Amino acid sequence: MQSIEDVRNSLVAQIATSDTPREVLKSGEIKALYGQLSSLAPEERSAYGKAVNDLKVALEAAVADREAMLDDAVVQTLDVTAPWDVNTGPRELLPTEQGTQHPLTKELEVVVDIFTRMGFEAVESRQIDDDFHMFGSLNFPENHPARDGYDTFRTEEGLIAPAHTSTMQNRIIKAGKAKLEAGGHIASISYGRVFRNEDVDATHEHTFYQVEGVFVSDKATLGDMLGVLRSFFESYYGQALQIKTQPGYFPFVEPGLEFLIEKPAALGGKPGEWLEMMGCGMIHPNVLKEAGVDPEKYQGFAWGCGVERLVMLKYGIEDLRHFESGKLGFLRKFV
Ligand code: DAH
Repeated sequence: MQSIEDVRNSLVAQIATSDTPREVLKSGEIKALYGQLSSLAPEERSAYGKAVNDLKVALEAAVADREAMLDDAVVQTLDVTAPWDVNTGPRELLPTEQGTQHPLTKELEVVVDIFTRMGFEAVESRQIDDDFHMFGSLNFPENHPARDGYDTFRTEEGLIAPAHTSTMQNRIIKAGKAKLEAGGHIASISYGRVFRNEDVDATHEHTFYQVEGVFVSDKATLGDMLGVLRSFFESYYGQALQIKTQPGYFPFVEPGLEFLIEKPAALGGKPGEWLEMMGCGMIHPNVLKEAGVDPEKYQGFAWGCGVERLVMLKYGIEDLRHFESGKLGFLRKFV
């Protein structure tokens, strides 16, 4: 018959070296101690029962200590700066499959690549900006109703989550001024995430992507712009396209236009089915002036295009909300 003290010594030693200390508590030795109760004289039973219960409490505490030690050991051996396959930590911490690029990231790279091959510099747009870049520098007068078309989010400090990538125009033109004066031109695109206070549905999102283009020189024309945009669309969709424009109002361009392509038959289009792809136009003299460039000497064109719309047409995606949904079934189609 084992004494309580023997059982304590044996189990405490097992717990201290076990990787699964809680299993030790299931040991038959504890049950055997309880089994001995019935063989004791009635007056001994209560003291004995209490001693076995005290042993159980002590063993529980030993298990908790051991488990804490094992957890610490995992933290100490996991090098969070190392690639996953270098760590020898518990299997459940290892990724089971590798992630892939989001379709918008992938397509944005294609778009940026086409424009950089045409000679445009590419910069990422800002995701937080101010009233001057969002409106003032773009010829939106204070309190002008045209501002309503760009309803977005503001911080308490008055900063703005930009509703379009046109916020970059003033910076781009200012930064390129020296180039113009040296006889060169400005050719730049900015791309990035923009935000609108929208009721979300299949064609409206509060968060989406745009690509903005700015070209300024001493002889830029609307014809140059149409050539650049046609080349871009034909390159992106890999085929010849019919294009047209119609008047559009944007305070930062004059004339302002909407640029349309005829939906290609290869993408399910019928003849005469026109799709509005972007806004564009000749940069308004006030926008050049705000950036310190003399509109008497220089002129330019600009455009702004929603990236999701480009991608949806290319792949026949019917609902804009898929992009921000994080659904793996959707994302895996673009691997
Ligand atoms: N910023 C406009 C929008 O989000 C699009 C746009 C129109 C950009 C005309 C331009 C432009 O640069 O010239 O609706």
